[in-house]
Amino acid sequence: MTTDSATAVFLSQAKALLGERAVLTDSEGFAPYATDWRQKFFGRPAAVVFPSTTQEVAELVRLANQQSVALVPQGGNTGLSGGATPDESGRQVILNLSRMTRIRARDQDNKTITVDAGVTMQTVQEEADRMGLTFPLNLTARGTATIGGNLSTNAGGTAVLRYGNARALCLGIEVVTAEGQVWDGLRGLRKDNTGYDLRDLFVGAEGTLGIITGAVMALHPKPAGVMTALACLPDPEPAQAAARAVALLQVAQECCTASLTGFEFMTPASMNPVSDYYPQFARPASLGSADQSCVLLEVSHAESEQAATAMLERVLDIALQGSLVADALVAQSLQQAQAFWDLREHITMAAAEDGLQVKFDIALPISSIAEFCQVAQQRLLQAYPGIRLSNFGHLGDGNLHFNVAAPAHLSKGLDRQGRHEAYRAYVKANEDGIRRIVHDEVVARQGSISAEHGLGILRRDEAAHYKSPVEIELMRKIKQALDPNNILNPNKVLRTPS
Ligand code: FAD
Ligand code: MLT
Ligand code: ZN
Repeated sequence: MTTDSATAVFLSQAKALLGERAVLTDSEGFAPYATDWRQKFFGRPAAVVFPSTTQEVAELVRLANQQSVALVPQGGNTGLSGGATPDESGRQVILNLSRMTRIRARDQDNKTITVDAGVTMQTVQEEADRMGLTFPLNLTARGTATIGGNLSTNAGGTAVLRYGNARALCLGIEVVTAEGQVWDGLRGLRKDNTGYDLRDLFVGAEGTLGIITGAVMALHPKPAGVMTALACLPDPEPAQAAARAVALLQVAQECCTASLTGFEFMTPASMNPVSDYYPQFARPASLGSADQSCVLLEVSHAESEQAATAMLERVLDIALQGSLVADALVAQSLQQAQAFWDLREHITMAAAEDGLQVKFDIALPISSIAEFCQVAQQRLLQAYPGIRLSNFGHLGDGNLHFNVAAPAHLSKGLDRQGRHEAYRAYVKANEDGIRRIVHDEVVARQGSISAEHGLGILRRDEAAHYKSPVEIELMRKIKQALDPNNILNPNKVLRTPS
């Protein structure tokens, strides 16, 4: 039997199991699922299937395994590494879990919530709020990104500094294995040393080892007061601004200890597109000057809003006196705090509106950030004159999105479509060289080429380039053991051997 007829058998079995309406086979219908959010990767699936229960997922995987049909797990399809995009063979099937939306259990005293994998991050945040608690995992795509996707990418976001990433907030998971068995690991335990940590193997595996169908997520007490400030740094030179931001972080951590819940760095090149394309979310005109980088600081206090404000003001007083900060605004209302976050959160959308960039998601020891920025910036500008270095990110976690945008002059006189085409062509022609410079400098400082977005297809070969043969071999052995027929998201994370 050819793979094509095997796919046809699988699809007729899937239709019998789920009903016709849960199996999309027309190219118009599945178009939104076949490409990634950034429109960097374009796939051609055979179909998209939408199970609603764990049992349906298990049965689908069992059938796919029987027919050797490759499945590409997908949640909200907001990932930034192409992990949820199928290849162009027309044979892979997208297994979309967004219809699995049950809240399975709430445990107030244990501070946990158990959910289906297709429940969105925002829904969990809202449920936690109703319980008088907080679910601190937070990122801009919260309304669409799912818990299954968050766990499979080990997502980070803007509160990792205090609460950790998706892995740190996950106490248990339920997984459908590549053979279609269900592993119920839905334990709400904060301590469990009973052998290999299977949960942590599936978390961050980007759908290559198993399908996450449910999870127990940890909730936290809600702070009584949350205060936000936007500070601008005196240095117009972005690499020097990054050095200054690192110094400000030291002050903020000393004054606030665990109360510092957000520390986000933004250079002018990252904020300018927000002014251009989302002027309602632009940086406040009254703050410093347009050539200065900014830091968004958030403090959460268990006692009160006044206590949070006092802490934040102390940080800013010290920083202003020490010339670490040129100017600062402490939010005077919830709306103003939201405006600061809107600026930060619209960087990605504004960048996408501007045109394709070479995107980075690097992690460095915080002590190396300043020197890295200086060296990488110098090398990039020398090799690629005119590029715009849109550096921003979770500096408090040592995680920068050191993105490179095409030279602006390439779009002179062009309309939106022309600009997008020109920038896309520039990225295509130069991305390998740009990546090599940045990643070489990252790895030279014991950094990581992905802090929170994962490898997917985007960084798969980069990871193979930098990881030791021993590490790659260990990863291959795990993949072989858990997915011997290579039906789960093949060719992602690890290249399928030819
Ligand atoms: P998808 O994109 O559907 O899938 C992502 C990966 O997980 C794929 O490899 C897929 O195969 C796999 N997968 C999905 N569901 C399952 C499952 N149930 N079982 C097994 N494998 C599965 N990410 C951050 O970390 N930090 C940020 O600050 C951040 N900000 C973002 C801002 C914007 C505007 C956008 C568009 C994205 C952002 N992201 C960020 C990336 C993205 O939102 C996260 O990676 C998110 O966790 C993906 O969730 P998803 O449900 O959309 O997953
Ligand atoms: C962010 O920090 O805003 C996200 O990781 C998205 C991005 O890198 O563009
Ligand atoms: Zn990020």
